[in-house]
Amino acid sequence: MTQDELKQQVALKALEYVVEGAIIGVGTGSTANFFIDGLATMKDRILGAVPSSEASARRLAGHGIKLFDLNDIQELPVYVDGADEIDASLAMIKGGGGAQTREKIVAAVARQFVCICDASKKVAQLGRFPLPVEVIPMARAQVARELAALGGRPVLREGFVTDNGNLILDVHGLQIADPVALETRIDGIVGVVTNGLFAKRGADVLLLATPTGVETHQRA
Ligand code: 5RP
Repeated sequence: MTQDELKQQVALKALEYVVEGAIIGVGTGSTANFFIDGLATMKDRILGAVPSSEASARRLAGHGIKLFDLNDIQELPVYVDGADEIDASLAMIKGGGGAQTREKIVAAVARQFVCICDASKKVAQLGRFPLPVEVIPMARAQVARELAALGGRPVLREGFVTDNGNLILDVHGLQIADPVALETRIDGIVGVVTNGLFAKRGADVLLLATPTGVETHQRA
């Protein structure tokens, strides 16, 4: 099976978690795109979706799925999204697509976070994937110095502006032994909007596509 076939397989499995008659939170990326395409087949059974990026909003709207503003809703039963890395505690690195700020906001509202990944994303320790950090443009150099002091090697994502008008520093070489502590530490740097560690609010369910089928892992 190709990686795309694995992504599609796990995305379609996640349709089982969609609550009929409700609004669903939808992530960003190639795996989330397969989920959006699958969601289109049951669009008459949901109220609509809250997207975590402009790209996902366009794809959802292209399928005729109604979009909701997060400010206009009271609750969100489920959020479905991919990840760049995920560990055994279901802590993640996200933001490969630069959408982690809105992803983290939508995930914070959702009662259940369902992460959809192919098996290549499962790791023993987070950190091989460079950690994306969204920064206010005028703080870029100062935040980069602070991240270097933490032992990382921040690299500006060239030619990229987030949906919020900010920049991304991809931080290489971090030793992430304690994801919750590092997430908190980086969020405390003035000028950081959000970092791509999702440890304080990790996934509740991981659907992991393997060549022998989709495994389901629950947060302990
Ligand atoms: C976007 C994300 C994505 O979930 C992550 O990058 C995984 O993407 P893909 O499904 O394309 O592998 O966090 O900001």
